[in-house]
Amino acid sequence: MDAREMKIKAAEVALTHVEDGMRLGIGTGSTAEEFVRLLAEKVAGGLKVEGVPTSERTARLCVELGVPLKSLDELPELDLTIDGADEVDGRLRLIKGGGGALLREKIVASASTRMIVIADESKVVETLGAFKLPIEVNPFGLTATRIAIEKTAARLGLSGAIALRASGDGTFMTDGGHYILDASFGRIPDADALASSLNDIPGVVEHGLFINMASLAIIAGPAGARTLTA
Ligand code: A5P
Repeated sequence: MDAREMKIKAAEVALTHVEDGMRLGIGTGSTAEEFVRLLAEKVAGGLKVEGVPTSERTARLCVELGVPLKSLDELPELDLTIDGADEVDGRLRLIKGGGGALLREKIVASASTRMIVIADESKVVETLGAFKLPIEVNPFGLTATRIAIEKTAARLGLSGAIALRASGDGTFMTDGGHYILDASFGRIPDADALASSLNDIPGVVEHGLFINMASLAIIAGPAGARTLTA
């Protein structure tokens, strides 16, 4: 199985958790997009679901493929969110936000009874942090917020470059109109402490540590899919 086939495999298994009438949170990224393609086939075959997309990008794909969408305000309580991840550890703690959609992804997952992560084996780690941690920040006071993040990280024994995410010649802007700082902390021994400390910084809108959110991960490897539970 190549990388794309593994993503499709994980998405196929996730689809077996989708039942008629479900209100679904629909994730962002290349793995989530494979799920959308498979879901669209089921919808064309008569499956009735309503989806809340976690990004404008996912919304466009759903509209293109005929997956019925609602806003989170129209459907504030969801049965299941299916989303990808940049890293998954053994306790199903995640780093997300490589695609820049972490704020809506976290709001949608929080509004869901269950969150299932779909990923290939390359995303599974012993300790989170090799992937740069995305931190979504308000553009106002960017430098002050960056310094506050550095100081907070230092108190937890973490250091490393904190880079403003770029897009083409400019600055990357999230769907919510914010910037992203990508923090190269390396290994994060206490992800729970870092998550709550980052939440205390006023200019931080959200961060990519998803703690106690996923209840199941479907991990696809060359030999097939396995599941991890929290
Ligand atoms: C989007 O902001 C991210 O959280 C994605 O879920 C994550 O980057 C996984 O994307 P891939 O499935 O493309 O690796």
